[in-house]
Amino acid sequence: MANFFSNLFSKQSKSVLGIDIGSSSIKMVQLRKKGGHAILETYGELALGPYTGKPVGEAVNLPLEKIIEAINDMLKEKEVNITTRVSGIAIPFASSLMAVIEMPAVPQKQLAQIVPLEARKYVPVPISEVALDWYIIPQEKNLADKSVQKETEKRLEVLIVAIHNDTITNYKTIIDKTFLDTSFFEIEIFSTMRSILDQEVEPAMIVDMGATSTKLYIVEKGVLRSSHMVDRGSHNITGEISKSLGISVEDAEYLKREKGLLGSVNGIDVKNVASFTLNYIFSEASHVVLAYQKKYGKNVSKIVLVGGGSALKGIVDVAKTNFQTEVVAGDPFSKVVAPAFLEKVLRDTGPEFAVAVGVALRRLQELN
Ligand SMILES: Nc1ncnc2c1ncn2[C@@H]1O[C@H](COP(=O)(O)OP(=O)(O)OP(=O)(O)O)[C@@H](O)[C@H]1O
Ligand SMILES: [Mg+2]
Repeated sequence: MANFFSNLFSKQSKSVLGIDIGSSSIKMVQLRKKGGHAILETYGELALGPYTGKPVGEAVNLPLEKIIEAINDMLKEKEVNITTRVSGIAIPFASSLMAVIEMPAVPQKQLAQIVPLEARKYVPVPISEVALDWYIIPQEKNLADKSVQKETEKRLEVLIVAIHNDTITNYKTIIDKTFLDTSFFEIEIFSTMRSILDQEVEPAMIVDMGATSTKLYIVEKGVLRSSHMVDRGSHNITGEISKSLGISVEDAEYLKREKGLLGSVNGIDVKNVASFTLNYIFSEASHVVLAYQKKYGKNVSKIVLVGGGSALKGIVDVAKTNFQTEVVAGDPFSKVVAPAFLEKVLRDTGPEFAVAVGVALRRLQELN
């Protein structure tokens, strides 16, 4: 896509790479630290559909060799000009299992023993087959009703995160075969939170619209509270445009990306056609918001849209009408320094790179 500053800065500081292997495309973002800032060096995207005879924009389930081939292609791509292998890689939410469980308020040491036992109830495979991680969700200190506070103090909410060992083995194979110098794998939610969120105190919902699925995360005070997946995404919209307008999937994808919800062909508005998918996704999201509000008695006061699907022109307004609350397009590049001439393109295509930017930011932090 762009190779702006490789000659501009001297080579003394280290560059790092954030890698996001999505179901429809791979994204990479290369950053470098200078004077306490994260500087954008280059970024790019490679569609995976064509690796199995499918169009750009379609989600595919590629065998490991094809993913390795695609990453190697991208690392060699002259136009993107990635110059480092120092990296981190995001793991798809779908390859993880997360749940919030309630535990008695016992000392940390004891908790470390009982959490894995309790986690067995939520993890559908033997616990020995997964890498298990967990953390305590901080409790509300200032509940008005003291009796409620007493009650809640006896229980802890613990977020458990499990990743199957086979998934980790696959990612290790990927780094071996691509000669990447990768220091961590991170579930994509945490990467997105790092690049997207500022200091929001009130609960916010992140909506990551990919090709065939949409991920919903509720985050409060920087802590992940709830996560869901909806089995519809932006490629469903392409399919509907193609069917309703009687055009090829490729043409429908082009129309969607060029005109977005403002497009219209022979009197048929893309907005109407897309509303099947958008209404479905947004109503699922509203259910999640309502359930959260009911459980915790707190409003979700902001919705942040990310993922390629959120680059759809006009989507923010439709979402605002649906949620009746503040809706913004996520701007992951706002935490990095980039040349002014890229400002608009980064704002438009930015939401797609939320995961990759977040991974790169973490890798950069590790250098210190
Ligand atoms: N400018 C655009 N306007 C509308 N839709 C777009 C635009 N750019 C990309 N998309 C759509 O975004 C989708 C891909 O989004 P994204 O790259 O976030 O998915 P992914 O990360 O590969 O998928 P997942 O995270 O679900 O595995 C595709 O369906 C594509 O058509
Ligand atoms: Mg994605």
